[in-house]
Formats: sequence, structure tokens, C-alpha cells
Amino acid sequence: MDNHSGMSPFEAAFHASAERHERFWIFGVLVMLVLLTIGTMFYVVHDYGLVTGTRSYATDPQAPAREAPFQDGKVVRTGPNAYAVYMVGRAWHWAPDVIHVPQGAEITFYVTSADVLHGFEIQGTPVNLTAVPGVVGTVKYTFRHAGLFRIICNEYCGMFHHAMVARIIVDPAGTP
Ligand code: CUA
Repeated sequence: MDNHSGMSPFEAAFHASAERHERFWIFGVLVMLVLLTIGTMFYVVHDYGLVTGTRSYATDPQAPAREAPFQDGKVVRTGPNAYAVYMVGRAWHWAPDVIHVPQGAEITFYVTSADVLHGFEIQGTPVNLTAVPGVVGTVKYTFRHAGLFRIICNEYCGMFHHAMVARIIVDPAGTP
């Protein structure tokens, strides 16, 4: 590995030092890339307000849609500033089709389907998960702004797929 032959001692020392710096920076850039990738994933998944999870019922795919919280289609208060919303997709509507939630509260959506695949997407937010029969998908989201949000279906599910729209009304914080 003697590629410093023919150089003056100063040049040889200079090259050796330059190579150390190159190795240091190549390694450093790799470490930065890894940190950037992990940081971006963390930001998207965690800080961006999305935490997802699933429960599945392989033996009886219609079970979750039949069960109590989904049947009632309610917004359930689960804490001082936390709510659970149980949402069932059916060809071709979401149940419940209008919900009210307060601004700034942590909302956990439990989403399933009673028939085929539907896509649960809240427009203007990163909330987007697939409603699957026999699977309860979970997504947490906090609405920072009051107003009307539309839940659309983004998974083609038949003739009236395009009409499968529900509404979330986010009431301004402080409204009783
Ligand atoms: Cu439901 Cu498309």
C-alpha cells in the first residue's frame, strides 16, 4: 500500500492526513444519511401525528363491523381531551356519515369495512388507511384547525365509489 513512494516526507504526511480526512468524511456522510432517513421516518410517523396499528379477525371478517362500537357509530370520549371514532365503510357510504369532534383533541379513528376494501382518507390531512373487512385499522390524529373535513374513499369499490363521502366537523376549541 506504499503509494507515497517518491514523495517528500512532507508530501507523504500530507497525503496520509488527507486520506484520514477522506475516510472520516465518507463515514460521516454515511452516518448523516442514516440519521436523516431515520429522522424523516420518525417525523412522518410520529411527529406528524400519525400512529397506526391493526387488529384482525381472520376467521370472521364481518365481526368488527357487527360489534358494539361500530354498530353505534359513535364518537366516544376516552379522556379529558381524547375521543375515539368508530367508522365502518360499506358500499357506498361511511357510517357514521357526519361526526363532530373538538379542535385540538386527540382523535383515534378505528376503521373497518363491512364488505369490500375501502380507502379511508381525510382530505387535507395525512390520515389515509385502507378499510379492510376483518381488520380494525387505527389512526390517531389531532385537528389543529376548526372547519369541515371530508372523508373520502380512495380505493375503488364499485359503482358509487365516488359518492362515498362523509363529513367531519371540527368545532372550534372552547365550544361547549
Ligand atoms: Cu368505498 Cu371506494
